[in-house]
Amino acid sequence: MICIIVLFFVCVNGLDQNVTCPYITPREVDLKELDGKWHIAAVATDLEIEGECATILFNHKSNNTTDVSISWIVNNSVSFYNGSVALTVDDSGGDLLLVTYTDQKSETYSILDVNYEHYAVIFACYNNSDGNSSTYELWELTRMPHVKKMDATKIDQAIANYKLEDTPLLHFNNTEDTCRINSGSLLSPASLILTSTAAITLFRRLY
Ligand SMILES: *[C@@H]1O[C@H](CO)[C@@H](O)[C@H](O)[C@H]1NC(C)=O
Ligand SMILES: *[C@@H]1O[C@H](CO)[C@@H](O)[C@H](O)[C@H]1NC(C)=O
Ligand SMILES: *[C@@H]1O[C@H](CO)[C@@H](O)[C@H](O)[C@H]1NC(C)=O
Ligand SMILES: *[C@@H]1O[C@H](CO)[C@@H](O)[C@H](O)[C@H]1NC(C)=O
Ligand SMILES: *[C@@H]1O[C@H](CO)[C@@H](O)[C@H](O)[C@H]1NC(C)=O
Ligand SMILES: *[C@@H]1O[C@H](CO)[C@@H](O)[C@H](O)[C@H]1NC(C)=O
Ligand SMILES: *[C@@H]1O[C@H](CO)[C@@H](O)[C@H](O)[C@H]1NC(C)=O
Ligand SMILES: *[C@@H]1O[C@H](CO)[C@@H](O)[C@H](O)[C@H]1NC(C)=O
Repeated sequence: MICIIVLFFVCVNGLDQNVTCPYITPREVDLKELDGKWHIAAVATDLEIEGECATILFNHKSNNTTDVSISWIVNNSVSFYNGSVALTVDDSGGDLLLVTYTDQKSETYSILDVNYEHYAVIFACYNNSDGNSSTYELWELTRMPHVKKMDATKIDQAIANYKLEDTPLLHFNNTEDTCRINSGSLLSPASLILTSTAAITLFRRLY
């Protein structure tokens, strides 16, 4: 049953657009500056999922490696999706984030815009084989749980620059309340499985 659910989700999801991937203005990325906790304000998805608190933690180690941990809280239960990050350079000389998840899947992300103290807009895109469409994912990250107006303006601008403003987004309800985990609370195993399947589907939607 779980397999079917996983396969079903893995097979059907992908956010398509009827144009090829946009050219991303190359930028230098500072993994050290990216360090720390980010809240996921929104992700591009065609799934109807309830999002409570979602965060990404970048953990830059003293040996110059960086771990990444995506977490998602639903009903006081937290799901993790972890991996490691390295920088790689694209054809135009810009830095890309190469994330290798613990399940050995890997994904390359561009940063459309970033202000390391406030917000980041992260993007992955693949051209489809028909030559005139593409599949993409988009992440809006903010340092604060609530998106400040000024940051929202910048994020919207970055997205509009690449003509992605029509992207359907799942917004997370990041508040101090929803981001708190009560370690004492119990969940039925069924909802735990559903939670993590949904989370992995959401965050691994290109596969
Ligand atoms: C692409 O899709 C948009 C809406 O999603 C539509 O307005 C536009 O006409 C489409 N373009 C082509 C070439 O099909
Ligand atoms: C997608 O295709 C367009 C047009 O052929 C090309 O300019 C672009 O570099 C391609 N992007 C990727 C990520 O392959
Ligand atoms: C870097 O350090 C971490 C622990 O701090 C360790 O798990 C990892 O294997 C190290 N990586 C390399 C390439 O040395
Ligand atoms: C750490 O990695 C970055 C990019 O991967 C590199 O530019 C830098 O020189 C490295 N620093 C050290 C101390 O190895
Ligand atoms: C993922 O990383 C977080 C933060 O480092 C850690 O607390 C959690 O136990 C990890 N989960 C898994 C499944 O590896
Ligand atoms: C995209 O390409 C396919 C096959 O090459 C074609 O059938 C389709 O009409 C094209 N779509 C658009 C919007 O140009
Ligand atoms: C967001 O979380 C707060 C605090 O838990 C809750 O009161 C509110 O109803 C939630 N909003 C939505 C849209 O889920
Ligand atoms: C969260 O808990 C409520 C009440 O206990 C339940 O109705 C709901 O289905 C749960 N949601 C998830 C995603 O497990």
